Amino acid sequence: SASLPTPEEFAALAEEIAREAGAMLLEKRPARPQVLLTKSSPTDVVTALDRAAEELIRDRIKAARPGDAILGEEGGATGEGAVRWVVDPIDGTVNFLYGLPEWSVSIAVEVEGRIVAGVVNVVPRGEVFTASLGGGAWLAGERLRCNTGVPLSQALIGTGFGYQAGRRKVQAEVLTHVLPAVRDVRRAGSAASDLCSVAAGRLDGYYERGPNYWDYAAGGLVATEAGARIGGLHGRPYSPEMTLCAAPGLFEELHDLLAPLNPERDA
Ligand code: IPD
Ligand code: CA
Ligand code: CA
Ligand code: CA
Repeated sequence: SASLPTPEEFAALAEEIAREAGAMLLEKRPARPQVLLTKSSPTDVVTALDRAAEELIRDRIKAARPGDAILGEEGGATGEGAVRWVVDPIDGTVNFLYGLPEWSVSIAVEVEGRIVAGVVNVVPRGEVFTASLGGGAWLAGERLRCNTGVPLSQALIGTGFGYQAGRRKVQAEVLTHVLPAVRDVRRAGSAASDLCSVAAGRLDGYYERGPNYWDYAAGGLVATEAGARIGGLHGRPYSPEMTLCAAPGLFEELHDLLAPLNPERDA
């Protein structure tokens, strides 16, 4: 509609909300957070603060934009309409649980199915990555550009091991082919943050099977606005199947390494 905010305006609102949720989480995080429940596997944990943060984010979105739809990891899908917010209240809950400094609040905004704004607040580091469609990717006032021209053999590759039961054996097998082919591998523990690391040149590339939409919606825009390519295998769009992200060139090399391994099969 005519009165829709611009991508930059959506990014600014998402940033405000992601900062508030991050501040709440820092303040309320107990020294030893407790696991409230586990979902698909023992790695797939939820704490009370995952829920509290998503509630805060939902309240702020509803106050500012009452008609918008919301998809959140903990609260599911609510509402419908042209604008949808995609929320991961804590990406990297296992790190949050253990006090490792790599977890984030991830908020993306979709208009008619297209992601137009993405914000990833890596709370323990005090780093807020923002992107708007066509407006670039930013961190602390600096425009981000991903690394380019890096051959696979010299690439630092981030990955994650999606939590769905029955995949661990295949994930480990795939890794035995990736590790000897690259400079080194990092498993930092937050897909949203991994994608921002590609954007900032702290990783050359990233792959993971099984990220959910809320894991990569915001970070994916940060990465593509920084010049990276994101996608699935065999030209498929990025999805909860295999998701790859790297500068063009390295993207194709990583793709050609992974595709024959059939990494989407289950163990
Ligand atoms: C997880 C993290 C992790 C990735 C998993 C995700 P959560 O999200 O992003 O790095 O490997 O696939 O599910 O559950 O901590 O929000
Ligand atoms: Ca989770
Ligand atoms: Ca997540
Ligand atoms: Ca989460």
